[in-house]
Amino acid sequence: PVVGLPMPHESANLHVTGTALYTDDLVHRTKDVLHAYPVQVMKAHGRITALRTGPALAVPGVVRVLTGADVPGVNDAGMKHDEPLFPDEVMFYGHAVAWVLGETREAARLGAAAIEVELDELPSVITLPDAIAAGSFHGARPVMLTGDVDAGFADSAQVFTGELQFSDQEHFYLETHAALAYVDEAEQVFVQSSTQHPSETQEIVAHVLGLHSHEVTVQCLRMGGGFGGKEMQPHGFAAVAALGAKLTGRPVRLRLNRTQDLTMSGKRHGFHATWKIGFDADGRIQALDATLTADGGWSLDLSEPVVARALCHIDNTYWIPHARIAGRIAKTNKVSNTAFRGFGGPQGMLVIEDIMGRCAPLLGLDPMELRERNFYRQGQYTPYGQPVAHPERISAVWQQVKDNAGIADRKREIAAFNAAHPHTKRALAITGLKFGISFNLTAFNQGGALVLIYKDGSVLINHGGTEMGQGLHTKMLQVAATTLGIPLHKVRLAPTRTDKVPNTSATAASAGADLNGAAVKNACEQLRERLLQVAAGRLGSHASDVRIVEGVARSLGSDKELAWDDLVRTAYLQRVQLSAAGFYRTEGLHWDAKSFRGSPFKYFAHGAAAAEVEVDGFTGAYRIRRVDIVHDVGDSLSPMIDIGQVEGGFVQGAGWLTLEDLRWDAGDGPHRGRLLTQAASTYKLPSFSEMPEEFNVTLLENATEEGAVYGSKAVGEPPLMLAFSVREALRQAAAAFGPGEVSVELASPATPEAVYWAIQAARQGG
Ligand code: MTE
Ligand code: HPA
Repeated sequence: PVVGLPMPHESANLHVTGTALYTDDLVHRTKDVLHAYPVQVMKAHGRITALRTGPALAVPGVVRVLTGADVPGVNDAGMKHDEPLFPDEVMFYGHAVAWVLGETREAARLGAAAIEVELDELPSVITLPDAIAAGSFHGARPVMLTGDVDAGFADSAQVFTGELQFSDQEHFYLETHAALAYVDEAEQVFVQSSTQHPSETQEIVAHVLGLHSHEVTVQCLRMGGGFGGKEMQPHGFAAVAALGAKLTGRPVRLRLNRTQDLTMSGKRHGFHATWKIGFDADGRIQALDATLTADGGWSLDLSEPVVARALCHIDNTYWIPHARIAGRIAKTNKVSNTAFRGFGGPQGMLVIEDIMGRCAPLLGLDPMELRERNFYRQGQYTPYGQPVAHPERISAVWQQVKDNAGIADRKREIAAFNAAHPHTKRALAITGLKFGISFNLTAFNQGGALVLIYKDGSVLINHGGTEMGQGLHTKMLQVAATTLGIPLHKVRLAPTRTDKVPNTSATAASAGADLNGAAVKNACEQLRERLLQVAAGRLGSHASDVRIVEGVARSLGSDKELAWDDLVRTAYLQRVQLSAAGFYRTEGLHWDAKSFRGSPFKYFAHGAAAAEVEVDGFTGAYRIRRVDIVHDVGDSLSPMIDIGQVEGGFVQGAGWLTLEDLRWDAGDGPHRGRLLTQAASTYKLPSFSEMPEEFNVTLLENATEEGAVYGSKAVGEPPLMLAFSVREALRQAAAAFGPGEVSVELASPATPEAVYWAIQAARQGG
């Protein structure tokens, strides 16, 4: 079977030769295009008192200015209806209040610059601590409760408390937000959008334009990265382009430049956490009481489900018998924070891994030992009430990574190295992972597909998922070829479109291959059943005895054969339907958002990473010397793709935890609220020099996941969270500068500067 073979990405050749088409590439094939440019207001908060568009219209090449008065439908771009597309109130520094359409981008830019906006400035809230102090919150405030927390603390031998604030993260996909819209002959709107959620983009475009969904088609060829940043944020941009097209009758192209993208679109939520934890005399967690506050930014966007996922992942791989975890969303005058790989999961898990790293020395335990002692065991439940069905996987990947990494020997080597080097210290840390797969919101756990077989035997598949580089389309081709029993070259994949597969879910929550793969498989199975009947007729046997393998149908116990192309042609002549719609819904899920209980996840993804770092005592600079990972993807659909996902996810996580440092102007000057790091020159992303010097990624073997498509597990997000191993290794290396076993606090991101301060604290005894 083609499933399980290491295949290159289906667009790899196009990617590396620069011929893969992205949304904005279509501009060059489109005539009479107008260019949209935002009018960004550079104040953190204020009510608009005047918006004078006249000067823009005097600029040569400016065709039209779009404002709220032009909206025929609803002036709102958010699923929570709290995001006016053309706002009367500026909610963050850089908020776009109008858009200019020009014959060229330059004309539109000059037009935007000519527009005069007057503002009554209002007080603004920029930082999380300020929002907390001011009681500035929005949205749900869930509380997750299990056991009896007070009794748990009463039974604890030791109780510790702490606080942690950690940073947001920019997606920095290579392709910035982009949309290209036009109106066709029948007044139907067509939008090409760089979106992870074409159906929702369609819904928002329709309601902004006052149309029905069947009048709007959204297509996504592929994205140059999404990482969650294009799960909800593309809708407004698509709606602006569509509105412009509707009003002018000409195609409208909208593409943000990097600084616009950085200053207008949402990021990973930074969090603040306070916690109190109780351990028994053996270092087993008894009780945890914590409050997690996410920086939601100006509107809700996906902040509520992000916080829900954060709460659902604060346990990570550890059993917490008694817990009270509260979540809330700060409302700040910043961009609206959104989905980002892991979706709150990394934030919840960072809190518990930070607690483990800080408390191990206080408990007199090796951090590795403390983590192992607290692993889930059979029969135990998460704090939200879901049984952990396969806790043995947690220890399986952990044990294997210990073996692969040669932990025992290397710990000795590191101890010897540290004893000999007063100004340089090394440390090795292992962290594990449990990440729930499925959307918490049960309804989203569905997928659809449309598979077409043409008379010549070629196959075209459509499915509801989008391609953002993660290799979903490659996997879908493999699933279709395997299910139909034909070689891969017979199958092609069409771009994702809302008029082919309706009502799709976002390609998110790592569930793209699970949901769409099962739907593609379902469609192919229907077609296979029909074709087996046809083949049986031709081969003179029973359908149940016929197999199609590598494009040839054969009957058991007979040497007659029928080639795929002949089989398809025969089926056509017999008037057998050669197209099928496939569907899948994940069974057995339930979730009650009010009581914050249920079994929202089909299964858990697992992995473990061992990271070794070396830290310089004078500067806090460090290197990642070696990383070993063992990751559980079930039976991999496509091992090369999956290993790429593990490597990429890990590095993106390490970027968040060690390098990437978004800075906002929180002073009272004229640029209060401004993002100070609005380019790659000031926002440090991981590059080759930050890669682990030795990087070994292994997929767990014999890991079939029953009930998932070809026994595979989701891979997209979980590996990001393996990067906690780097942060914990940095903490331990900093501690090694201190006298004996000291507990050190480490800021996140653990930049060299932050590590330097951790070393200084360690030298003072922690
Ligand atoms: N890999 C690449 N190359 N580019 C991306 O944008 N997004 C990640 C992950 N891997 C992403 C990626 C995120 S946030 C998710 S949720 C999954 O891919 C989505 O795809 P899947 O569900 O098909 O795994
Ligand atoms: N990741 C995880 N869970 C989610 C997501 C996501 O992107 N979107 C909605 N639930």
